[in-house]
Amino acid sequence: MTATTANDQTNPTRADASPISASYPELLGTVAVVTGAGRGMGAVFATELARRGINVVAGDLAGAPEVATQINDELAGAGRVAGRRADVTNPADHDALLRAGLDEFGRVDFWINNAGVFPQAEFTDIPPDQLTSTYQVNVNGVVYGAQTAARHMRANGGGAIVNMASVAGVRVRATRAAYNSSKAAVRHLTACMAVELGSDNIRVNAIAPGFVDTEMTRWVREDPAALDRALRTVPLHRVGAPIEVFGALYFLLSDSARYITGAVIPVDGGSQHV
Ligand SMILES: NC(=O)c1ccc[n+]([C@@H]2O[C@H](COP(=O)([O-])OP(=O)(O)OC[C@H]3O[C@@H](n4cnc5c(N)ncnc54)[C@H](O)[C@@H]3O)[C@@H](O)[C@H]2O)c1
Repeated sequence: MTATTANDQTNPTRADASPISASYPELLGTVAVVTGAGRGMGAVFATELARRGINVVAGDLAGAPEVATQINDELAGAGRVAGRRADVTNPADHDALLRAGLDEFGRVDFWINNAGVFPQAEFTDIPPDQLTSTYQVNVNGVVYGAQTAARHMRANGGGAIVNMASVAGVRVRATRAAYNSSKAAVRHLTACMAVELGSDNIRVNAIAPGFVDTEMTRWVREDPAALDRALRTVPLHRVGAPIEVFGALYFLLSDSARYITGAVIPVDGGSQHV
């Protein structure tokens, strides 16, 4: 698991990775599929869900079985994690994740479309394959996952889907056009799904993180000038921790969010406004 967990009180710009105390006991024994769970936020989501008694199917191109083993060893007695290799650009891999949930745990209640890629290029130089691969993972991957989830949930009384959008879907930065536009699509797709799936008792929401402490953003933290520029667009003036994004995810899955669908919850230290 490579998400940074440091909570350096001497440096106020560092992420606050201290635990969150929220508890939704109604989720005990439920089952969630998390894509992109081989590292970063997905690995933290799998860990924190399992810690709270929710069973997880963790899928990723690489690392998911290892993450699952580590969590199961650490949290014996809590929720269990089944790790599977899964490519979100392949619809059959989503079906396999669903099957794993049913085989291992007997049900699937929640689906978290978390896998994503974050490529960079000046707009005039974006190679066709970068555009294609970004949309394949960040957009098609979300659609395929939600389709698999919704077909199952529709036949089983409902459920909840959470898509990972980004502040980049509303506040764009230069050299990220493929990513920015893919995340705008995720926001819009979330509304489309919510409208179409509400009558099946399926809630669909998105989380829009800002600048969160994972491998994806390590290059910013390692470049003092880039870090300073990035933090100027964060009113709370620090990096977010994956656990802080988890707080929104956990709420969205819970019964406390039962009348919330089609929402995009920013977890960005206020940066959508800057
Ligand atoms: N870190 C941030 O600051 C930030 C901000 C906004 C949104 N997000 C979004 O949050 C999500 C998680 O980001 P993260 O920071 O943990 O990134 P990360 O790079 O640490 O993890 C992303 C994971 O997705 C996996 N993945 C990529 N392509 C895949 C594919 N085809 N099939 C299956 N898995 C695949 C990767 O292997 C990786 O494990 C992403 O959707 C990202 O766009 C991140």
